Amino acid sequence: MGSVNGSIDLRRDGDVAIITIDNPPVNALKHEVRAGLIEALRQIGDPAIHAVVIACAGRTFSAGADISEFGKPLKSPGLQEVIAALEAVPKPTVAALHGTALGGGLELALGCHYRVAAPGTRVGLPEIKLGILPGAGGTQRLPRLMGPEKALAAILSGDPIPTAQAHADGIIDEIVTGDLTAGAIAFARKVVSEHRPLTLVRNREDKLAAARANPQGYGDAAAKLTSRSGGRRAPAAVIESVRNAFTLPFDDGLAREQALFRELVVTDESRAQRHIFFAEREAARVPDMPQGVKPHPFERAVVIGAGTMGGGIAMSFANVGIPVIVVETAKDLLTKGLDRVADTYRTTIKRGRLTQDEMDKRMALISGSVELEAAGNVDVVIEAVFEEMGLKKEIFGKLDTIARPGTLLATNTSTLDINEIARATKRPQDVLGTHFFSPANVMRLLEIVRGKETSFAALATAIALGRKLAKVPAVVGVCDGFVGNRMLAKRGTEAERLLLEGALPQEVDGAVTEFGFPMGPFAMGDLAGLDVGWRIRKARGVKAEITDPLCEAGRFGQKTGKGYYIYQAGARTPTPDPEVEQIIVAASKRLGIERHKISREEIVERMVYPMINEGARILAEGIAYRPSDIDVIWIYGYGWPVWRGGPMFYADLVGLPHIRDRLALYAKRSGDKSLEPAPLLAKLAAEGKGFASVGAAAGAAA
Ligand code: CAA
Repeated sequence: MGSVNGSIDLRRDGDVAIITIDNPPVNALKHEVRAGLIEALRQIGDPAIHAVVIACAGRTFSAGADISEFGKPLKSPGLQEVIAALEAVPKPTVAALHGTALGGGLELALGCHYRVAAPGTRVGLPEIKLGILPGAGGTQRLPRLMGPEKALAAILSGDPIPTAQAHADGIIDEIVTGDLTAGAIAFARKVVSEHRPLTLVRNREDKLAAARANPQGYGDAAAKLTSRSGGRRAPAAVIESVRNAFTLPFDDGLAREQALFRELVVTDESRAQRHIFFAEREAARVPDMPQGVKPHPFERAVVIGAGTMGGGIAMSFANVGIPVIVVETAKDLLTKGLDRVADTYRTTIKRGRLTQDEMDKRMALISGSVELEAAGNVDVVIEAVFEEMGLKKEIFGKLDTIARPGTLLATNTSTLDINEIARATKRPQDVLGTHFFSPANVMRLLEIVRGKETSFAALATAIALGRKLAKVPAVVGVCDGFVGNRMLAKRGTEAERLLLEGALPQEVDGAVTEFGFPMGPFAMGDLAGLDVGWRIRKARGVKAEITDPLCEAGRFGQKTGKGYYIYQAGARTPTPDPEVEQIIVAASKRLGIERHKISREEIVERMVYPMINEGARILAEGIAYRPSDIDVIWIYGYGWPVWRGGPMFYADLVGLPHIRDRLALYAKRSGDKSLEPAPLLAKLAAEGKGFASVGAAAGAAA
């Protein structure tokens, strides 16, 4: 007994053997772990050992299979073999869970006779988020514990199940307070002394009876749960496999699950989702950040501006327990803003996603002030007033005299020059941009805009804060629109061009939603409101051939009941409007453009390739450190379908030579030079490389 290998420890506590997985940080089940488990199980044959506990060292039970091993040849033993060896142990086996038991981690635990857990443990099968299905018996064993319909919902969502619910559902047998291993050992001894049955999950049938009696009910539930899964393959595989749990003998179901897993793991869908799993974590890394830079504390915050953005940002703080003061210029504006926050929470309560008690706790963390001096005693200030440089500079000038040294001074802007705002202070090192996405309390993306003089400490603080706020932070450099909006602008230009050439809003939006976006550019415009851009254009003396006439006709989008579409009173469903078609046709005529039918394929190319082209420029300029950061930004900020991996990943899948050639064609046809292939794209295409070959650039800051 003792160390079995570098990742597995085996020790004895009297008559109980304790096998501990120790593979920091999350005990992923890499090859060494699997081999060590098999060896440990071989060593527990001693008749003096009456029971076995499987535990994990460190902050969590196992996060499942080692995702970085996917796509490579599997080295034996596989996890199924480990679980089979575990199930063959003739003495009570008990898994001791803490932190999160996910994917293969939970599947390993389901191979034990019993499972105990520390309070706060969460269990789940998140494989769907990686474009695969659980591949070590999860789709066969979980339905046997919680029933097929519930298991299906859990596996299709991939979301972790909290302890109490997992206990109620029969996944966890006992919640252990106090020392977990000691509690698990005591539980194992109880099983032995009370001669509790040693029924393996695979042999349980009782929870399958209802689905067997009513397979149609299962089919209906499955259809409801997957009505919005588009062209993805993993959900269908999960439905089939969970159905097998109650229609096939266990071993046949297991074999089919394996086959489906092998099919899915090599799909582009799964490669894309695995890419995003790692990209999301990578995006928070700043290549030139020296080791050891520590974030400053952020125990108290001020948000300046009680508008929609300010309110949403304040909620993000309160949602994770950080007290926040919202500052406005006048009492009535403040009251209006705080009322809007309370209303948003009430809607969440109505939808069953928040309790009144929790809302009260969160509201108690949000206070208001009409004095900017409130910023004098906090760690973080986020300014979220109108996009007006003069106003922002004035506020930052004042903050310079009010805020304590070292306070993080962030501006929530989607377009303005952070360096100019920073220069309004004498501490530009503490200033950066935090570009939240609307609604800020919901959207996960946080673009952190690094100014020329932003210090590493400020950056580290913003990144840590972003993660604390449950956002996905991505550090970008300064330019007009930063990464996301700069690329979006290219799509906007092309979308209008498509209308002028012959497409209608519903055709463009239809092609874009079929591609996988939740919404097309025109429905999105109507949601956001068309008047804001119209006012900006008027101020800049710029024209938009279709949107301007729409706005002149009072069509500002959903808020006025009509925009690119018409909306029934109180409804959000866009309906095509003949009046819009007339405006579009008139615009084409005015410009002498002969309208023609445009294929769906061309629409998708023109909605996506110009963005990829701009992404290439952004990379070449060092505004984004890596192509995968751009992917993360588009997935978490703009609804790019995760199973397509983000624009730059998608570009590599399509192949850069094709994209280069099509862009060149579109540039020639339209005369728009910005559509000509960006030098980086052209170079990579010529070299037969993809964006994935571009390494992280140090020092993105303009
Ligand atoms: N495989 C490989 N690496 C993993 C991993 C996994 N399953 N889970 C996490 N990691 C890595 C992360 O990439 C990260 O690495 P870096 O520090 O180098 O960036 C590190 O572990 C820490 O992870 P997080 O930053 O995510 O830490 P966290 O504390 O915020 O979250 C977690 C912990 C909830 C476990 C989260 O990491 C997570 O959700 N992991 C993935 C879980 C998952 O999808 N499991 C299913 C795997 S597929 C499977 O098991 C198939 C099967 O059926 C056999």
